[in-house]
Amino acid sequence: MRACVYEEYGGPDVVSVAEVATPSPKEGELLVKVAAASVTTADWRFRSASFPVVFALAGRLLVGVLRPRHPVLGMDFAGEVAAIGAGVSDFRVGERVFGAATRGAHAEYVTVRADGAVTRTPPGLSDAEAAAVPFGANSALAFLRDFGAVRAGQRVLVVGASGGVGVWAVQIARHLGAEVTGVASAKNLELVRSLGAARALDYGSEAYLEPGAGYDLIFDTLGATTFAQARPALAPSGTYLPLTAGLREIAQSITTRFGRGPRVKFAISANTRALMEENAALLAAGTLRPIVDEVFPMERIADAHRRVEGRHKRGSVIVRMAAA
Ligand SMILES: NC(=O)c1ccc[n+]([C@@H]2O[C@H](COP(=O)([O-])OP(=O)(O)OC[C@H]3O[C@@H](n4cnc5c(N)ncnc54)[C@H](OP(=O)(O)O)[C@@H]3O)[C@@H](O)[C@H]2O)c1
Repeated sequence: MRACVYEEYGGPDVVSVAEVATPSPKEGELLVKVAAASVTTADWRFRSASFPVVFALAGRLLVGVLRPRHPVLGMDFAGEVAAIGAGVSDFRVGERVFGAATRGAHAEYVTVRADGAVTRTPPGLSDAEAAAVPFGANSALAFLRDFGAVRAGQRVLVVGASGGVGVWAVQIARHLGAEVTGVASAKNLELVRSLGAARALDYGSEAYLEPGAGYDLIFDTLGATTFAQARPALAPSGTYLPLTAGLREIAQSITTRFGRGPRVKFAISANTRALMEENAALLAAGTLRPIVDEVFPMERIADAHRRVEGRHKRGSVIVRMAAA
């Protein structure tokens, strides 16, 4: 099969298309013929070994200390079941599925654990749209509902509301009943409002952390703010929830737990079957909709990485696989 491979850490051009062996599903696994896959900020980090300082060592140990241990990147995929391994009874060959593999989704075929983060693609969703879902929607649901405990009537500020996680955060906070304010640039304000934000603020021209704003939760998806800056805009019992936390935020999450006033919450999310199924149900109901920034053919994988690394995408960047 053809796959997008990289043999060394570096810029977007270290990734190219090459012929590799097609994987075969082991016991408990599905082989998925990939129609579309997403290049996420995680793929950019793995490709360039650009990890937040606090994860630098763990990141290298995970992907390879001197060079990448696994040549094919990619977690989020959409396609159809091509084969099933022994012991799999809840999927059938030919079914449309989408999900997040551990790795290897930037290829014509990928294997994924059948009890992992994979589920049936809701009718009406294209493969490109489905591949745009897992990374952002699973992170947003875990962070807002499970870690941030967002409840109806709360005021939520999403910083980076047009990004890969942000477009889902706005929709999910709204779905949980919050009044949402999204921070984006002028060109994306209309998008952010269309996702359900009551207010959309331009980070280029507005000081959006207004003292006394009384947000119950500030979800910074980018690291564009600090707790010190956000604190005056939080309600007394409010929470500052950074998606990209460093040592400072980890320390603050411990110290603010014991004092009075707003607190910092440090968390890391993981893709699970439960999150996939919950997001699939919300997509099927029309509560959520994917935002696709741009679709690239497999041969332009380096351009897709460039778009992601630029940190100005709207929603998700998609790569279409050749065998689709
Ligand atoms: N800890 C975890 O469990 C976890 C899980 C998922 C993701 N993450 C991390 O979360 C981060 C976010 O990923 P992502 O894919 O959502 O990012 P992204 O898609 O690359 O974010 C880009 C978006 O941010 C907007 N933006 C840029 N600067 C901004 C600013 N100063 N204020 C407001 N918006 C701004 C851009 O809009 P303009 O073009 O208009 O500027 C663009 O739409 C990544 O670092 C990722 O590694 C962590």
